[in-house]
Amino acid sequence: MLLQVDDTPLNLFAVLEVKREPPQRWGTLGGVRRIRIYSFLFGLAVMFFITASYILTGDKKGLLLTPSPYHFSTLVSPGTLTFNLSAAKDDAHIKEVVRSITSKVEFGSSRHLPDLKALVNSEPHMFSVIPRKFLPGIKNPCWYEEYSGNLSSDPYRTNLYAHYSKRFRTVFQQLRNTFQEHLIHRDGKAYRMRCLPYFYIIGQPKCGTTDLYDRLRLHPDVKFTTFKEPHWWTRKRFGIIRLSEGFHDRYPVEDYLDLFDQAAHQIQGNLSVNGSASPSQPNVIIGEASASTMWDNNAWVYFYDNSTEGGPPFLIQDFLHALQPHARFIVMLRDPVERLYSDYLYFGIANKSAEDFHEKVSESLQLFEGCLTEYTLRSCVYNTTVNNALPVRLQVGLYIVYLMDWLSVVSREQVLVLRLEDHATNRKYTMHRVFDFLRLEPPTKEIESEITESPASNTRRPADKNLGPMLPITKEILRDFYRPFNEKLAKVLRNDSFIWEND
Ligand SMILES: *[C@@H]1O[C@H](CO)[C@@H](O)[C@H](O)[C@H]1NC(C)=O
Ligand SMILES: *[C@@H]1O[C@H](CO)[C@@H](O)[C@H](O)[C@H]1NC(C)=O
Ligand SMILES: *[C@@H]1O[C@H](CO)[C@@H](O)[C@H](O)[C@H]1NC(C)=O
Ligand SMILES: *[C@@H]1O[C@H](CO)[C@@H](O)[C@H](O)[C@H]1NC(C)=O
Ligand SMILES: *[C@@H]1O[C@H](CO)[C@@H](O)[C@H](O)[C@H]1NC(C)=O
Ligand SMILES: *[C@@H]1O[C@H](CO)[C@@H](O)[C@H](O)[C@H]1NC(C)=O
Ligand SMILES: *[C@@H]1O[C@H](CO)[C@@H](O)[C@H](O)[C@H]1NC(C)=O
Ligand SMILES: *[C@@H]1O[C@H](CO)[C@@H](O)[C@H](O)[C@H]1NC(C)=O
Repeated sequence: MLLQVDDTPLNLFAVLEVKREPPQRWGTLGGVRRIRIYSFLFGLAVMFFITASYILTGDKKGLLLTPSPYHFSTLVSPGTLTFNLSAAKDDAHIKEVVRSITSKVEFGSSRHLPDLKALVNSEPHMFSVIPRKFLPGIKNPCWYEEYSGNLSSDPYRTNLYAHYSKRFRTVFQQLRNTFQEHLIHRDGKAYRMRCLPYFYIIGQPKCGTTDLYDRLRLHPDVKFTTFKEPHWWTRKRFGIIRLSEGFHDRYPVEDYLDLFDQAAHQIQGNLSVNGSASPSQPNVIIGEASASTMWDNNAWVYFYDNSTEGGPPFLIQDFLHALQPHARFIVMLRDPVERLYSDYLYFGIANKSAEDFHEKVSESLQLFEGCLTEYTLRSCVYNTTVNNALPVRLQVGLYIVYLMDWLSVVSREQVLVLRLEDHATNRKYTMHRVFDFLRLEPPTKEIESEITESPASNTRRPADKNLGPMLPITKEILRDFYRPFNEKLAKVLRNDSFIWEND
């Protein structure tokens, strides 16, 4: 049951009407000047960047909640591959494979968009829990939900996130202790504030999203879920906890919403301060940063109509857009060639070496080419069988394929696309673009320097640094493979820096 905003004269709503000035925007002039100063250091920085190679790469964090082995290896196999790998493995052959792939790349037909009815039919519960309208006057999407549970029992006792994470149980303990005092009673009913994120950092893995997250959370108006990656949209709602395991119970949307309760309490706290309070309240916005949201639709084949070969009938963004038409999405990308090596080093298990990487790349390219001889590019990218079979996650670097599908439902203004290379050389520039995009008040000078100067997060493990860079031949092959995708990306984003030819 939802509390109707329009016809409920809750006193709280009077507070909501407080006139607020539009948040100040970051001056672009200062930014430009900074860019000039920084361009002076750019050569040096790039050199450092190359030498230190992949600074912002893997360190296993939050092991419990970040699925690491990345394939649905022990899940039911969704079919077998219908083509054979060629016995020839020499580089000339692989180059031929890449030529064959690039000759088949086409971004032609746009996908068939599902209508709202079909989305609601496929996830009726989700649509019944989340209202079509959020509270007015609050920047973040929030609403009041009737609380019909037994007031003397634990509201978080069935939450599956808590079931699988000790850290989460601690957080829920705190929430539990203050749960009652946050309930609002009206006409014999109790209501709790519920919120969804104002913005999502949706991708890509090994592109610096953890670093962005760690900096952004230092802004006083930004709150995140208690841990970085809930992976609810792509995995938990299908019952996927670790990709190496089979299916578990599907996490209901309420369990996901519980992750925002801490932030909701803060927003609620800001609301109940008297109307005369500072006009900037409540400006708190919530983010979530699951780096799988942009690309990982692999669960579709097990849950949706898989009889057509055109790819998934529903994508994550269809649901997100239907529920939150004004949500904002941040995408951090990097040279897909470097991303792949970083991904391999982070997720690879045994016998990591530049030679092993080369072999895995060669095999992956052949598998991908095998798929392209029978199916379209798009259906290969979303083909779970193919994705599971690839020894390295080639497809995650095909940014444009995913981006075009996001832009088929959300407007260009709702998506901010950043490059890790820019972030690594000039954090001030990327952070200001993020503040601007999220319409955040500029932080104080002190907080700003804390945000831009704290050390990089999630950098490459020392043991992996010893492995050195990939082989030049692997790099050459991968560069040829990704080139047409990067070129299209640069065209869609109207910026040649996304070709990554000079990095
Ligand atoms: C397609 O979905 C059905 C259930 O609707 C499932 O039994 C079957 O295994 C799926 N096929 C593939 C190839 O995954
Ligand atoms: C995915 O690729 C496999 C192997 O080529 C093929 O058998 C299967 O039909 C494809 N699945 C879909 C849904 O296109
Ligand atoms: C794959 O290899 C097997 C055994 O070598 C052969 O029988 C089969 O015809 C091959 N399939 C294709 C599609 O080439
Ligand atoms: C509520 O829960 C408490 C303890 O869990 C129990 O003693 C009580 O009977 C319950 N009340 C109702 C109305 O279910
Ligand atoms: C209101 O929000 C600010 C952050 O914008 C926070 O620091 C403050 O503690 C909040 N006030 C209350 C009463 O929760
Ligand atoms: C809110 O305003 C009322 C009267 O205007 C006052 O009595 C009360 O102390 C105020 N509360 C807070 C938290 O400022
Ligand atoms: C790692 O390499 C050793 C020696 O080359 C080999 O015996 C072993 O099977 C390899 N392990 C894996 C998981 O590939
Ligand atoms: C292209 O992107 C780079 C950063 O990646 C930025 O510095 C530059 O201003 C952008 N160019 C245009 C025309 O937007």
